Amino acid sequence: QPIRLADYRPPEWLVDKVDLDFALHPTQARVTARLALRRNPKGTQGAPVILDGDGLTLVRLAIDGAPLAGSSFEAGPDRLTLAHPPADSFTLEIETLVDPTANTQLMGLYRSSGNYCTQCEPEGFRRITYFPDRPDVLAVYTTRIEAEREEAPILLSNGNLVESGPLPGTTRHYAVWQDPWPKPSYLFALVGGKLAKVADRFVTASGREVELGIYVEEGKAERAGYAMDALKRSMRWDETAFGREYDLDVFNIVAVSDFNMGAMENKGLNVFNDKYVLASPQVATDADYSGIEGVIAHEYFHNWTGNRITCRDWFQLCLKEGLTVFRDQEFSSDQRSRPVKRIADVRALKAAQFSEDSGPLAHPVRPQSYREINNFYTATVYEKGAEVVRMLKTLLGEAGFRAGMDLYFQRHDGQAATIEDFAAAFADATGRDLTQFSLWYEQSGTPVVTVKGSYDAEARTYRLDVSQAVPPTPGQPTKAPMVIPLVVGLVGPNGDDLPLTLGNTVVERGVLELTKAEQSFVFTGIDARPVPSLNRGFSAPVNVVSGLTADERVFLAAHDADPFNRFDALQGLALGLLKEGARAGAPVAPEALIGAARNILANTALDPAFKAQALALPGEGEIARELAADVDPDAIYAARKALKSALGNALAGDLAQTYGALVAAGPFTPDAASAGRRSLRNLALDYLAVTASAEGIARAAAQFEQADNMTDRLAALAVLVQHDVPERERALAAFYERFKADALVIDKWFILQAQIAASDTLERVKGLMAHPAFSLGNPNRVRSLVGAFAAGNPTQFNRPDGAGHAFVADVVLTLDPKNPQVASRLLSSFKTWRQLEPVRRASAEAALRRVADTPGLSADVSDIATRALG
Ligand code: ARG
Ligand code: ZN
Repeated sequence: QPIRLADYRPPEWLVDKVDLDFALHPTQARVTARLALRRNPKGTQGAPVILDGDGLTLVRLAIDGAPLAGSSFEAGPDRLTLAHPPADSFTLEIETLVDPTANTQLMGLYRSSGNYCTQCEPEGFRRITYFPDRPDVLAVYTTRIEAEREEAPILLSNGNLVESGPLPGTTRHYAVWQDPWPKPSYLFALVGGKLAKVADRFVTASGREVELGIYVEEGKAERAGYAMDALKRSMRWDETAFGREYDLDVFNIVAVSDFNMGAMENKGLNVFNDKYVLASPQVATDADYSGIEGVIAHEYFHNWTGNRITCRDWFQLCLKEGLTVFRDQEFSSDQRSRPVKRIADVRALKAAQFSEDSGPLAHPVRPQSYREINNFYTATVYEKGAEVVRMLKTLLGEAGFRAGMDLYFQRHDGQAATIEDFAAAFADATGRDLTQFSLWYEQSGTPVVTVKGSYDAEARTYRLDVSQAVPPTPGQPTKAPMVIPLVVGLVGPNGDDLPLTLGNTVVERGVLELTKAEQSFVFTGIDARPVPSLNRGFSAPVNVVSGLTADERVFLAAHDADPFNRFDALQGLALGLLKEGARAGAPVAPEALIGAARNILANTALDPAFKAQALALPGEGEIARELAADVDPDAIYAARKALKSALGNALAGDLAQTYGALVAAGPFTPDAASAGRRSLRNLALDYLAVTASAEGIARAAAQFEQADNMTDRLAALAVLVQHDVPERERALAAFYERFKADALVIDKWFILQAQIAASDTLERVKGLMAHPAFSLGNPNRVRSLVGAFAAGNPTQFNRPDGAGHAFVADVVLTLDPKNPQVASRLLSSFKTWRQLEPVRRASAEAALRRVADTPGLSADVSDIATRALG
């Protein structure tokens, strides 16, 4: 019984106003909801009132103040039905009891470190009270919370605080919050607890004064400074980049330590995984700082793309997520280095989304059906969804894109919209037909674009013959051609771009528009044979087959005007060698790559962060995906290690010089330039230790001990743990001793150990599951230990004896009854199992079958198991 997009019907009943009253209690929180219900004039004549629930206990029901007899309604844990509503509009009062302490799913009202908090997206509100829990029912909410003053001195909800105070004669107090903006139930939030507050203020472009608050566990306030700074920069950026201002008097963020995902954009009250709020140089890495900046921005940007304009139904999830990821990527690009940000985003896209798109869990950016919506918060919906918006901008140009966004905001503010609405805004603003472009939302799979270039010296023309094909994916055996904006350049012999002219027209911004299965482009006035630079800036999320020679790639790595393609040229060279090495076990001949890498390293005009990206070899996952079938992760690991050693040895002098030259001049600052220098220096450290030479290990051990910040300390530890040397256990023990009070740092300690490519890692991971710092109840711990093993250690997860697969399946089954979302996420690590060689493939299949055959699975886990096997 999957839910289908094609079956969408408007809600039968609307809710105009919601009054909530919470009496917080650790195990018996009492929720009174007053819903102003109104029959939808666009609904079915005489339709009953059917409200969603999930595990609810009903205490009392009243209509317009009069208690309701048991015979006039039907209430179960998952549904409340009034078969004969008394009128076309009335107030329904519902009292439910919920147990926040027993809520281990972390959906609905739950407790984290003793504090009360909520997570409602996508279907958690129904775990609090009965409600039409769907995003196209928009209401204004007033929330009254009361609690023990001792237990929960801080009481927060959406919107503005309108009233608060003690409850005379009791130990309790209360607060009333009012949110004037109509919203769907998934944006409701409540927080109660003992929290420290970091306060600041922001004045919007039009002069609205906004009180900003970041609430964190007591004692951690000094770690919220960077998040606050990122929030203020986000608020300003949305004004200048998109003309979007904040719309309430308060904006609050709460950091909690038990959270299923990254963060949540509840109106005026964002709730965060504390990993994306807390930072100090001693405990957070550069990657943590940029993660905080990106997620703070992402959730803030949802205020317009998600909250003011929300989704009609969950099939439209990419309407808010793809667009908001695009917006946060653009923000970070403006705050940091645009090319380096693009490279990092594309690396992440390929690792997570391309692999998803090439396996059994592939699905369109806008799925057509689902069994469990929680399983569609995926790299495809988020990251590929962002790429689709980016392509739209590339096709329409800066001004056309902005005009489309402005029209979208103007038309749909206050509405629950669809992808069709979004596309229509751009079509109407620019006069462009986007029908074929919209296939990006419908067709899954990563298109393959094959390009052949030929030069005609006599005619002075250069011709590109381009074909595109989208591979078959589950449920989609055949595909239609897509609109692919392929940004290209023709790089002349001296390294400069040649003019791009088709007939008599100059190709604007280098954008070729592919729309057919096969197309040819003949560029005129080309005086010398160029090297084509294809898909510049990764303008389309496709696999390009270019047939470029090693010499041409070396040339592009040195000269391409497009920094992304300089990076990509080096990656392409490396990938060729790695594939060959993994396939044949053949000795690699990396001279061309070494030369190109040496030039990049020596080029003083290049940003260190860019160099670090260019010199980092493609990951094991990317190599596996390129090989596509009969993958042996051990062979990939060996090939990669061999190539890394070859580079490390050949460039030892340059790398040592780089390492020495990049010593920090002053104390740690998290800015992009300093972070870039650290990333290159730590890359050098890694290469210099790859053969586990005494000198390389000693250098890493010294850095581990002397580092004044977590980035450098952790980078050194990461180098040490990959080698079977005595320094490894010594450093791990020292790290634990030093940071054992800090759960988020111990997560890094778990991750590094889970990712060791050694045959005793599985035993180590099993041992760590019994470590006092580990807890199956905390999603960050599970992801750091078991998730890092399953998704970040291809050789050990895919052990040929099947023990890695069996272990992860066991953890999934143990976790499922407690937290199905985290369990199903973990099971998704099997998403590339079909590409494995037969022995490992059989063991993965057996593990998946064992999971699938277990009775009583959650919808989350059973959906992933079924589709993975499908
Ligand atoms: N809307 C949130 C974000 O992207 C993600 C919340 C997803 N939560 C969930 N339980 N699936 O920022
Ligand atoms: Zn989001």
